[in-house]
Amino acid sequence: MAIILVDQDLCTRCGICSNICPSRIIDPADENTLPAVNDVKAGMCMQCGHCEAFCPSQALLLNIRPDERIAIPAGAGAISPGDLGYYLKKRRSIRHYKADPVPGEIIGEVLDIARYAASGGNGQPVEWIVVHDPKKVRRIAGLTIDWMRSLVNSSHPMSGYFPGLIGAWDAGHDVICRGAPHLVIAHIPDSHPVASIDAIIALTHFDIVAPAFGIGTCWAGFVAGAASEYAPLLGEMGIPKGRKVAYAMMFGYPQYTIHGIPRRKPLAVTWQ
Ligand SMILES: Cc1cc2nc3c(=O)[nH]c(=O)nc-3n(C[C@H](O)[C@H](O)[C@H](O)COP(=O)(O)O)c2cc1C
Repeated sequence: MAIILVDQDLCTRCGICSNICPSRIIDPADENTLPAVNDVKAGMCMQCGHCEAFCPSQALLLNIRPDERIAIPAGAGAISPGDLGYYLKKRRSIRHYKADPVPGEIIGEVLDIARYAASGGNGQPVEWIVVHDPKKVRRIAGLTIDWMRSLVNSSHPMSGYFPGLIGAWDAGHDVICRGAPHLVIAHIPDSHPVASIDAIIALTHFDIVAPAFGIGTCWAGFVAGAASEYAPLLGEMGIPKGRKVAYAMMFGYPQYTIHGIPRRKPLAVTWQ
């Protein structure tokens, strides 16, 4: 099966596909041939799709699920640096949520966009668990507190925070999942050289895309800490065998609106 399909009527033989390919496996067209990948080199294709994405005449198709090709409508995706700057500077961790659930289809749309995040070697190792049931989010928060109780007098690096968090939980405050109705958990293969970074990048995309849908998010650091070692929590989450939790994020519709942008440390940069 050919790894690239080239429409001879559309191909202008410009050479961009050969030049752009990170693995440099596309033989350029000449007067009589179209761009092609020979069988020997085809195994080096990392299926990044750059040959297709950068083709000016859209003559080339990477031969993976070709029927799923997405055309970019004219002007779609254009956003000014000013707008993007305000959008990102306005992003905040949300810790107060409405009880209204976010419909599954909307969550699916956010995750679908996060599929396009960068990943090492285009490995795309991240898979997701969406905890849609608020009662289950609550159980996960409770198990995170149980994990903290088991470590109060230990040398765990976060143990200093635990008594205060446990006290707040016992007083009726959900300081773990902040009463969020939902949780998204990114999980990755047990041993993989870069998957943990890929997962943070993918979750960052989730974090950035969600507000465009009116959804608020907050990184669930304590849940992630517990999920790295606490078997009862992993059982509740249903992490598949051979995989582990990379990180988790709570989300839901925010109770309050963001009206300002807080100050941050000055930019620290060395120009060389
Ligand atoms: C890795 C990571 C873990 C975090 N864990 C938690 C957490 O468990 N609970 C929480 O309320 N906030 C958590 N946060 C949110 C940070 O406190 C927040 O990003 C920071 O205070 C800056 O606020 P902002 O996100 O609104 O800019 C986490 C953030 C990151 C990046």
